[in-house]
Amino acid sequence: MLGNLKPQAPDKILELMALYRDDPRADKIDLGVGVYKNALGVTPIMRAVKAAEKQLWEAETTKSYTALVGDQGYRDAMAGLILGAGFDMGRVASAATPGGTGAVHMALELIKLAAPGAKVWVSDPTWPNHLSILKHLGMESTAYRYFDDETRGVDFDGMMADLARVAPGDVVLLHGCCHNPTGANLNPTQWGEVAAHLEKTGAVPLIDLAYQGFGDGLEADAAATRLLAGRLPEVLIAASCSKNFGIYRERAGILLALSSDPKAKDLTQGTLAYLNRQNFSFPPDHGARLVTMILTDPALKADWMAELEEVRKNMLALREQLAQELRRVTGSDRFGFIAQHRGMFSRLGATPEQVAALRADHGIYMVGDSRLNIAGLNDKTVPILAEAIGAAGI
Ligand code: LMR
Repeated sequence: MLGNLKPQAPDKILELMALYRDDPRADKIDLGVGVYKNALGVTPIMRAVKAAEKQLWEAETTKSYTALVGDQGYRDAMAGLILGAGFDMGRVASAATPGGTGAVHMALELIKLAAPGAKVWVSDPTWPNHLSILKHLGMESTAYRYFDDETRGVDFDGMMADLARVAPGDVVLLHGCCHNPTGANLNPTQWGEVAAHLEKTGAVPLIDLAYQGFGDGLEADAAATRLLAGRLPEVLIAASCSKNFGIYRERAGILLALSSDPKAKDLTQGTLAYLNRQNFSFPPDHGARLVTMILTDPALKADWMAELEEVRKNMLALREQLAQELRRVTGSDRFGFIAQHRGMFSRLGATPEQVAALRADHGIYMVGDSRLNIAGLNDKTVPILAEAIGAAGI
């Protein structure tokens, strides 16, 4: 039986992680997988997470099961973080999931159950695993234009022209902030236009919110999600705690499914419990519990927010420095977009051959589409990268 399996194409991002690990060069630079690293190249455990873990170790009395959709305290705290304090939480069905990927997977399964055959629109480009999960679930997807290769900003006219073809009941997958892989994001006016268009067409947004707090700040990064949630009757939100709490391996995520009809909300809540049970039963609790403790304890929350802000500002400073170094090396402003992009990633606009040359000649690892993880840099490696980009003629 097992011998009949067909080999699966390896995930390009995870494949790159292994290539980097096996490279013996001491001066190699990892700009691949989306993991935050500080100036020492370390992915630190955040102070508030450490403090919460200590408290939890002392106070936790059982490891028995939680609820099938996760702990209520976690679901409430996360709904508050994402939707804001004033939101009508009566509209929200939710389930804790293993990481943000689990939430995306679950959202797509929910769509499949509610509207078999629904078409899912995805940005071109998008996180490759979106496409992979859609394919795995046998769901139909269509790309909408998103990135302008010339300006390295959003091709908003192209996007809206493509989305003009969405039909009622179609699903539009949007990155709530910090677009992965490009780093190019809609401005508030453009989000308003997207909201109005979805309202008019009756399409349902599925928002992937994996980087809240990594772009313009915790509140600003949730603004687009809140706008859509406030205006549209049905919204799905797949959120991750991996990056903003730095708890990647704990697998803490959540799916929020908003409806404006109480009957639909109850049906959705029951279906989320069903889906968790079919997929893995109870969601992981450790990371979710740490997040709950942090979000409900004013001192821990303040410390977490302060550290998250340091992380965000560090990435912004690296963006500024890289844009400046590239100005120096190339004598042009054509990499100015790096300082405008937000989040961990920017798409450089290099060819696959140039990306391969950066890896072979300089030990610089970025994803084949020339997505680089800004957080993989530090103030010493920024000039090295800029010189290498210049030498590769990008
Ligand atoms: C990334 O895009 O690098 C991250 O979201 C990690 C992953 O799972 O791909």
